[in-house]
Amino acid sequence: MSAAHARGATAGVLITFEGGEGSGKSTQVERLAEWLAERGREVVVAREPGTTAVGEMTRRILLQTAPDGLAAEAELALFLAARAQLAEEVIRPALEAARIVLLDRYGDSSVAYQGYGRGIEPGRVVELNRWATRGLEPDLTVLIDMPVSDASGRRGRPPDRLERAGTAFHERVRRGYHRIAGEEPERFLVIDGTKSIDDIQQGIRERVEKLLAGRVPQRTESG
Ligand code: ADP
Ligand code: TYD
Repeated sequence: MSAAHARGATAGVLITFEGGEGSGKSTQVERLAEWLAERGREVVVAREPGTTAVGEMTRRILLQTAPDGLAAEAELALFLAARAQLAEEVIRPALEAARIVLLDRYGDSSVAYQGYGRGIEPGRVVELNRWATRGLEPDLTVLIDMPVSDASGRRGRPPDRLERAGTAFHERVRRGYHRIAGEEPERFLVIDGTKSIDDIQQGIRERVEKLLAGRVPQRTESG
């Protein structure tokens, strides 16, 4: 059963972008959104945590609290709160209106960071994501994968709280993403993030084109 059928035949498409900090998610989301819009698709872009007012407040707490100032469970609960609000306020309405939703991070970030990175049981995080979003699963997840050392070299600003967590943490996150993608190969497109921006975008467009073929725009009443 596809994600769209599982969530009750909403006509839109949900595409999420995952990977470490500096892997190029925002760059690729922006380019894909432009390309889709040029083709007449209605696109909604959001980032996690953020986008909603509640999400932006949560983002500030998460990124500005002292390095050891948040328990792993508190951190997860804040990400889940931002995600629940985003799902309710932005994602579900957009999917119901047959839009294409592009998300810069979603539930897999919590599985990778709070699960594999911080040590909360990953299966539990998967369940909590499902609870927080009432089962809103991505149709496609693009994982931009690259060595931790390459990505940290791209940062043009001082590291925030999570970025300061250290190489071992980010290695666990990267391996976590590999596990998640390996468990659901049909949902994931894993791309080598060390390739050029254009090459990566080309790979994403090819996969998205296949996903969209015959699907959007498509209203629920026509089946
Ligand atoms: P993220 O959203 O994953 O943190 P960004 O899209 O903000 O990553 O990219 C981080 C930095 O790396 C930016 O300066 C961006 O221009 C640059 N960048 C993105 N993709 C690539 C790439 N494939 N090769 C080289 N530099 C890149
Ligand atoms: P952000 O600036 O969006 O990172 P990026 O450079 O990748 O765009 O910061 C988000 C940070 O929050 C990043 O370190 C990953 C982390 N994060 C989690 O730990 N769990 C989550 O569920 C999400 C959505 C993000």
